[in-house]
Amino acid sequence: MHHTGIEGPKGVWWKPAHKSEKVWVAIAFVWCMVLFAMMPFWHLRGGQNPTGIRHRVEPEAFRQRTEEFIEAYRVGEEENLPVVEPPPGSHVYLMGRMWAWTPILRLQTNATYTLHLSSVDVNHGFNLYPFNVNFQVVPGYDYGLEVTPTEAGDYRIVCNEFCGVGHHLMVGKVVVVDGGASAEAEGGSDVNRAVEAASVVPSTPSPSPPTPSGGDR
Ligand code: CUA
Repeated sequence: MHHTGIEGPKGVWWKPAHKSEKVWVAIAFVWCMVLFAMMPFWHLRGGQNPTGIRHRVEPEAFRQRTEEFIEAYRVGEEENLPVVEPPPGSHVYLMGRMWAWTPILRLQTNATYTLHLSSVDVNHGFNLYPFNVNFQVVPGYDYGLEVTPTEAGDYRIVCNEFCGVGHHLMVGKVVVVDGGASAEAEGGSDVNRAVEAASVVPSTPSPSPPTPSGGDR
């Protein structure tokens, strides 16, 4: 058997594909489209890949802003780290540096905060334990994430980006306290009121309007 460039070899791969092959190609294609559609769908519906505010910030400026934030809302100290309790609705700053997360945050449930994350030295990884919340913390960028704690508890921030010999010691802390009572005492934030209103409206029967039947109430 011989063949030249003009006369190609005999083969079978350009013969019409077998039916089962077409079926498998169709299945694979449909599945690709499903996965493709899942990306935008899960972004919008699944509450993942948060669309945060991102802008550039000088590490030194971020450090100063964090210091100001700490000064403004400091309520105590724990293990040489300031404990800070910002009011609901406020901007919250969390600074990553070798090898600590500063400060310790005290947040309230059902209140929305804008959490600003940045690093003042190298890349760190924000991992809110025990949840599957992961975020790159990059020096030079301020990542603002809208967060609304839903469950009271004592959480840890674990660094999941190797950042030097102290990497494994870089553990921060977020304490979430029940926001209901104290927020009410302070008059509550707009966000809290909105959340309460939203959760009350569907479960409460509307105030009885004058009944058409002449009404006995
Ligand atoms: Cu910071 Cu690892």
